[in-house]
Amino acid sequence: MCVGVVMKIIMGSDHAGFAMKEKVKAFLKGRGVEVEDVGTHSEASVDYTDFGKQVACKISDGTFERGILICGTGLGMSMTANRFKGVRAALANDLFSAIMSRRHNDSNILVLGGRLIGDTLAVQLVETWLETPFDGGRHQRRLEKMDVD
Ligand code: RB5
Repeated sequence: MCVGVVMKIIMGSDHAGFAMKEKVKAFLKGRGVEVEDVGTHSEASVDYTDFGKQVACKISDGTFERGILICGTGLGMSMTANRFKGVRAALANDLFSAIMSRRHNDSNILVLGGRLIGDTLAVQLVETWLETPFDGGRHQRRLEKMDVD
């Protein structure tokens, strides 16, 4: 299974994504994936931006190739992460979006809505997202047009 291909994942959540983050982290660790968890570490209220920025920064600077962010809807985390150069954060609460975000968009952060989906689907989305390669070709040209100076 591909989670062996991507050996290091950086994760973060706010309070609304905390419980799901713990479930996803346990799934990944159970399959031998090294996980860096930037927090949050409880259900006490925090600002999603603080955790989204930490993950996006380490994707942007190349420290990690893949990240996972979880907040209540996934919206705030994806907005925050996509401000960082080189970050392609995909909010994907369904399997088709998770697959296509890899195949066509080479997404490097998967964003989940902890208040929208269940833990079982979250784990399926993570597994599928990690297993799905980028199609390249014409899609690479389109990615190169994303950045605005
Ligand atoms: C927190 O209440 C909530 O606003 C946050 O988790 C997220 O959904 C924001 O986009």
